[in-house]
Amino acid sequence: MAGRRELPLMRGGGGGGAGGQPMSRGARILAAVVVGVTLGCVCAFLYPDGLIPRSPDSALHWPRRADSVACDTTGEVADLKSQLKSLERKNAELKKQINELSMKLQLSGQGGKEVSYKAGPFGTVKVLRTNPTVTPDESINPRLAKILEQVAVKKELIVALANSNVRESLEMWFTNIKRVGIPNYLVVALDDSIESFCKSKDVPVYRPDPDEGIDSIGKTGGNHAVSGLKFRILRQFLQLGYSVLLSDIDIIFFQNPFDHLYRDSDVESMSDGHNNMTAYGFNDVFDEPSMGWARYAHTMRIWVYNSGFFFIRPTIPSIELLDRVAGRLSSEPKSWDQAVFNEELFFPSHPGYEGLHISKRTMDIYLFMNSKVLFKTVRKDARLRKLKPVIVHLNYHPDKSDRMRAVIEFYVNGKQNALDHFPDGSE
Ligand SMILES: *[C@@H]1O[C@H](CO)[C@@H](O)[C@H](O)[C@H]1NC(C)=O
Repeated sequence: MAGRRELPLMRGGGGGGAGGQPMSRGARILAAVVVGVTLGCVCAFLYPDGLIPRSPDSALHWPRRADSVACDTTGEVADLKSQLKSLERKNAELKKQINELSMKLQLSGQGGKEVSYKAGPFGTVKVLRTNPTVTPDESINPRLAKILEQVAVKKELIVALANSNVRESLEMWFTNIKRVGIPNYLVVALDDSIESFCKSKDVPVYRPDPDEGIDSIGKTGGNHAVSGLKFRILRQFLQLGYSVLLSDIDIIFFQNPFDHLYRDSDVESMSDGHNNMTAYGFNDVFDEPSMGWARYAHTMRIWVYNSGFFFIRPTIPSIELLDRVAGRLSSEPKSWDQAVFNEELFFPSHPGYEGLHISKRTMDIYLFMNSKVLFKTVRKDARLRKLKPVIVHLNYHPDKSDRMRAVIEFYVNGKQNALDHFPDGSE
């Protein structure tokens, strides 16, 4: 029918512009959407007297109408019904095409932002790292949306998940945040007791409801179950349009982290690396003497990102990351969330696998410091001792509480020998 005949022309619209100024992909998609919507309207309004009789094919089905004004009512109704059915089918098809097109439009850079660029002179070209933010959708969780409106600052906030197993660390966590004067943080409480504990301490808290699209494994789950849950909960924050600084609770804040972010990447994460090389990447040469002349193979190495402290912006690549990690954690129950998080971030596309196209940045290892950097290097270096970190993450040590208290003594109370009696690692 008319609509079907025209659609291929619409899709090929870019080819038609080849003679003159080529239309950008975004503009072509936009034009296609407009034409599609218009066609849908035309079908709805002109039926049956406008559109159908003009088509020679359908004219064949209408002779009765022309000769018998006396109206064979039943026949005509059946005819109308079948016409209606085919129009409904066509309408559904058009709707589907419009949906697909608008999705492509969104992906192509939010409404025609994608244009063709001319490469500048040598040394001046720079690819975009900062992807556009998603359109906030409050309908996915209106209650959380309301809480975030009150808690977030410039649509950003710190988020931590906690259940009753970690009550003591949690108290240390928010006590330090309060001392620094950071207003925008939220505890996601995974059980009633931790929810009421937060309320009693005047700590902003959100208790996910199973009806709000998140199940309740967090209640009894150990670290692993909570890890999978984390990525699914975070998705809702991003869908609501917020940037999240996800924080484990074995982390101590000494400065406001929002003064030290770059915000140029989808994910900005602290590193498990312990020096510039391991944190920021290096060329590791693998030696295989039996290969003779070609004995040296160069490899790219970087210590993993710490999935317990990262800033994630509300973009499509970020949400895809969360979905991929959460999906794998549930389909591969033995997997470790931090390994999965890093594999999804870094592995490139290859046969049988499509890598994630996401921009990432490694945080400064002395500002966002892991406990290996602190105990192995910083505390022994006169210059580095004087730097004040934004956070310290006690990720490398099992005797967390003792070391956390000592770190606070050192950085907050200025007790110079507070760190001295600990070994570099656990013993
Ligand atoms: C490590 O990197 C920082 C920033 O890139 C630089 O200022 C510093 O000198 C480097 N340290 C070493 C030991 O190379």
